[in-house]
Formats: sequence, structure tokens, C-alpha cells
Amino acid sequence: MPTDPNSAHHQGSATMRALGFVARPAPGDAAAALRWVDIPMPSPRRGEVRVRVVAAAVNRDDVHAAEGTIFGGVPVAPRPTLDAPLVPGIDLAGVVDAVGEGVRDLVVGQRVFGVVYMGRLGSLAPFCCTKASRLRTLPHGWSFADGAATGFTGSVASMALKRAGDPKGMRCVVVGASGNIGGLIVQALVHAGASEVVGVCSGANAQHVTSLGAGRVVDYTKGPWSRESPVDGAPFDLVFDCVGGRDTEAHALEVLHGQGHVVTLCGPIRFLGGTRLPWTSIAGAIAYILRRSLFSRFRGPRYTFLSGTEPDWSAVNHYLLEPAIKPTIDIVHRFDRDDVAAAMRGVTSGRSKGKRVVSIRPDEEES
Ligand SMILES: NC(=O)c1ccc[n+]([C@@H]2O[C@H](COP(=O)([O-])OP(=O)(O)OC[C@H]3O[C@@H](n4cnc5c(N)ncnc54)[C@H](OP(=O)(O)O)[C@@H]3O)[C@@H](O)[C@H]2O)c1
Repeated sequence: MPTDPNSAHHQGSATMRALGFVARPAPGDAAAALRWVDIPMPSPRRGEVRVRVVAAAVNRDDVHAAEGTIFGGVPVAPRPTLDAPLVPGIDLAGVVDAVGEGVRDLVVGQRVFGVVYMGRLGSLAPFCCTKASRLRTLPHGWSFADGAATGFTGSVASMALKRAGDPKGMRCVVVGASGNIGGLIVQALVHAGASEVVGVCSGANAQHVTSLGAGRVVDYTKGPWSRESPVDGAPFDLVFDCVGGRDTEAHALEVLHGQGHVVTLCGPIRFLGGTRLPWTSIAGAIAYILRRSLFSRFRGPRYTFLSGTEPDWSAVNHYLLEPAIKPTIDIVHRFDRDDVAAAMRGVTSGRSKGKRVVSIRPDEEES
């Protein structure tokens, strides 16, 4: 199989070559099951645009959706078949190539970044269609890699920040501060004037989290982080939980004062989505989240579980589109089966230190 997308896809013809799946991989098998697939060139429907993809990124959700384990096994992504492969890829950055009916804000030739959510045809492809509302103009000075590294992660981070309210003057803890979402939240909190930002991560990533702006760092591998200095006993206003699990929530409650607020991305199950769960566990987690969200309104600290699929661009503009804030890019992978498979293994390790970007058209990427 050719590994260069530009020689592999057939400009002007009706097909293109993408990376995808032709059957549902078993949990943990997505990287090994990934293969080149020839698929029809997508056409934008009403309200959509087609993007000539220059850079994409691999997220843990891409892998979990393909394996059918996302949210513990909720069948979000379509089942791949030989006739209708599934192409993963939520993040994309590139150039608008065609616009569908009813699209007014974007024109052909515009440089954009954004997301395409778990349909059949994602962004690990030379071309990709998505709703115009899921794209935004690439900010001046950003590379396509920056855009691909920010779309999904940035949209989730900014929604979490919006749910927490104005952080100016607040004392904040970010759990999972070395991760993709946590790293952006740390930078945004510092920029928005939080009075203190403490990052919780492994000791190996302490320097990285400090470089993002955290005033202090707590190493969770040494024991329960809420009992370590400098968080021990101190009343914090906000905790952002990018890891999940009942223990993380319990630690958050130990450091928050009564009017404080914990915003969790994962709820009571750590790294929700990595394994298929029985329906009883999923139902139990949903019931727990609903109960905690409701009752914490009357008796604090407040509990918010972040959900939502559409990017909130006004929140992204407000919290993240600042020259001082940049996503951390760990590795730029080639658009190559083995290299993208390596990215998939990396994102599911739970120990990432930045985004795994995939350069679809290296000749069009610039700094
Ligand atoms: N609710 C939503 O809408 C939504 C949307 C997207 C993603 N998510 C979820 O949000 C979570 C974070 O995503 P991400 O892309 O930022 O993940 P990520 O890049 O893989 O980062 C996870 C980070 O968590 C840290 N970590 C692991 N175990 C920890 C522990 N016990 N205590 C503290 N930190 C720990 C790791 O740091 P070290 O390497 O330093 O240990 C790692 O850097 C994922 O579970 C993802 O599924 C939720």
C-alpha cells in the first residue's frame, strides 16, 4: 500500500485512500486492525463543507468509538463493514474545498480547524466533510498542526471552563494537568487571572506542568493528592477533574470549601470509555451523575459532569484563543498505517503529554 496520501488518493476521481476499519476491532485491538481503505470522495450535504485535510489528530475517543467501548459501550459510532469502512478522526485542520447548500460563513480556500463527530468518515483522510458550524477560521499565526491539536481538546477544555464560571481570583486545582485537556485548562486559568493554579500529575511531568503556568504541582503517584502539600487542608474554589473515578471526586471534596465547584470530564469511572461495561454499570454511573448534579445544588460543593458534543466557539474564543495559549503537541505522526497505529497506542496509555497530530499533507503544513 502506498503511504503518501497525495499519491494514494486520486485527485479528480471519485475515490480517495484513508485509514480506517472494515470490522469492529475488539477492545484494545484498534491499532492492529487499522488499514488503508479506498472510499468514495465525500460530498458536502446541506450545511456542511468539505475540507482538504492538512492535519488531523488522534484522540482516545477515536479509538474507543471504533472499538465500541466509548462511554462504557454506548454504540455511538457506526459499525464498520467491508463495504462501508469506518474512518476515525475527530480533529481536523485544512482548507475549505467545497461548500454545501445553505453555508454562508465559509468559502472555498479558507483555512479552518474544528471537529467532525464520530460519523462514518472522519479526518484520517485526504478530504472530510463536517458541519460548517463545527469549523472556525484558523487564527493568524497558527499552523495547521496547532489547529488539529486544538479542535476537540480545546472545545472540551473551554466548555469545562465556561461551566466553572469566571476563574479570576480563584484558587484552582487541575487533576490530570499534564494531559491534553488539563494542559489547556491550566494555561487558560493562569491567563484568566486565577489567583492560584495547582496541577496534579505524575512527578515525571511536573516540569512540563510548571512550564504551562501552574504555580505548584502535586505528584499523585506519592499517595492521595489531597493530603499532599500544598493542597492539604487548603480551601480551594475550583477543581477540574480530567481523570475521573470516585477517589478523585473524594479528594476534590476534601480540598474544596462548601461553595466550591468540581467540574468532571469523566464522572465516577476513571478514564470512562477504555473498556466495555455492563449496562448496569453504565446506568449506575448515569444515575450517580444525575443524583450528584442535583443534590450538590442544595448542599455544596457543586458537582458538574461535562457533556455536550457541539463545539462552543464563543467559549473557545473567550478562554483559549490567546497568543499566550498553545496546545502541547507531543508527536507529529506521518499519514502512514504503522505511524498512526503508534499514535493510537499512545493516546490510550493514559499517560500522554500532548497531542498526537497526524500530518496528512506535510508539503502544505507550515509553522
Ligand atoms: N466529558 C467530555 O465531554 C469529554 C470529552 C473528551 C474527553 N473526555 C475525557 O477526559 C479525560 C482526559 O482526556 P485527555 O485527552 O486530556 O487525556 P490524556 O491526554 O490522556 O491525559 C490524561 C492525563 O491524566 C494523567 N493521569 C493519569 N492517571 C492519573 C491520576 N490517577 N491522577 C491524576 N492524573 C492522572 C496523566 O498524567 P501523567 O502522565 O502525568 O500521569 C495524563 O497526562 C479522558 O478520560 C477523556 O475520555 C471527556
